Amino acid sequence: IPVDPFDLTIFGGTGDLSRRKILPGLYRRFRAGQIPEGSRIIGAARSEMDHDGYRDMVRAALDEFIGTDALDPDVVAEFVSLIHYVAIDATGEKGWSELKELIRSDHISAFYFSVAPSLFGALAERLQSNGIADKTSRIVVEKPFGRDLASAQALNATLAAYFDETQIYRIDHYLGKETVQNLMALRFANVLFEPLWNSQYVDHIQITVAEIVGVGGRGGYYDKSGAMRDMVQNHLMQLLCLIAMEPPSRFEPDAVRDEKLKVIRALDPVPAEDIVRGQYAGAEDVASYLDDVEDPESLTESFIAMKVNVSNWRWAGTPFYLRTGKRMKARSSEIAVVFKDAPHSIFGSRSGHHRNILTIRLQPNEGMTLTTTIKEPGPGGMRLIDVPLDMTFADALGQHEDLATDAYERLVMDVIRGNQTLFMRGDEVEAAWAWTDPIINGWKERGDRPCSYEPGSTGPEEAQIMMHREDRRWRGIQ
Ligand code: BG6
Repeated sequence: IPVDPFDLTIFGGTGDLSRRKILPGLYRRFRAGQIPEGSRIIGAARSEMDHDGYRDMVRAALDEFIGTDALDPDVVAEFVSLIHYVAIDATGEKGWSELKELIRSDHISAFYFSVAPSLFGALAERLQSNGIADKTSRIVVEKPFGRDLASAQALNATLAAYFDETQIYRIDHYLGKETVQNLMALRFANVLFEPLWNSQYVDHIQITVAEIVGVGGRGGYYDKSGAMRDMVQNHLMQLLCLIAMEPPSRFEPDAVRDEKLKVIRALDPVPAEDIVRGQYAGAEDVASYLDDVEDPESLTESFIAMKVNVSNWRWAGTPFYLRTGKRMKARSSEIAVVFKDAPHSIFGSRSGHHRNILTIRLQPNEGMTLTTTIKEPGPGGMRLIDVPLDMTFADALGQHEDLATDAYERLVMDVIRGNQTLFMRGDEVEAAWAWTDPIINGWKERGDRPCSYEPGSTGPEEAQIMMHREDRRWRGIQ
């Protein structure tokens, strides 16, 4: 369904995120017929360039990140005709009157702040003082949204001075992933799962986001963040919320976000013994974490595993185990809901230990598996085995084009539609930092050192030990 005509300004329009994600995503939406012709996409950045120079840069970005062979030259030509450029000084006066001229009052206006958070205030102020934004304009901000509670509160206050909360779209790109949204459909559109979705039937839940890549060229940013700030405070927290939250009364922005907020506020503080931090070592042709960053003594974690308790009526006694890391064995993100044993085994002790596990694979090979116990075929008596009831979305739906829709393109179109459901509200972000801060401060105060782990592994041995201590096992990473 096409959206209404819009003028989208991308501050940081020459930056990496714009070239890699935002512009290719907009091209794909244009090709799908969702972007009406009169719309404008306006790159705004410091570099001196004219419209044509920027259009060349956009073409090069499409070539690089979509691939020349996958592009339709006619569609590219039409798409770049929507593109404009303004050389702008975020903290000065240059460029703002040119930008104002490009934005039409009868169009939806949206402003993507793909810049350092230190510039958010200056941009917001100038959009207002130059009369460019109005009450219907939307602004989009990226993570990192602060690095602790105090800085997140300061950012929220800065934005709130110029824009209403209903105009602010805080992106967590995990919420734009197809399978992540599917979690809500799975839970709230099926009658099968919800009656079992509580501590009476669920033993524990594992959320794993493993990556093969190291911190590579992002060492400068990453070393100041670590896995806790970079992944847990936002992406894993959002996954946990969608799994743990109560059913919202409607699929509407504040109804969903209210329920997520309640989950975050129900999280217990996490004691040091329930956390394992790791840092990848090097191998013959793989640089170690300490080689990838500037500080040879860095104590920042590139891996974290932790046990989290959601202290509410539904989940008390059912731990959530979170695990994420760089330079691991495979790129694999999944959520596993491990159900409890049957209350009584009529088959006797020789039939073994069996459990239902519902696994939701977020990437790659998106789909779901329900491990089910059946009788092993044959005349050898009642021997039980576990088999998967397996569904991949690609098999079930065929090569559905929208399965490949990138998270960013979905989220940008939601901004234009004015739908905030998949964006984080200010209070949600603050609550997540309020839970994260004491954990990180504890490491600093104690001077905790991360454990070393081999690149291409499942993380440090200590993470396995943490699970074994509780008579549980991490699932394999494939
Ligand atoms: C980003 C993190 O937010 O998410 C990166 O900053 C991480 O460190 C990335 O690699 C993972 O996203 P995805 O979509 O590749 O799982």
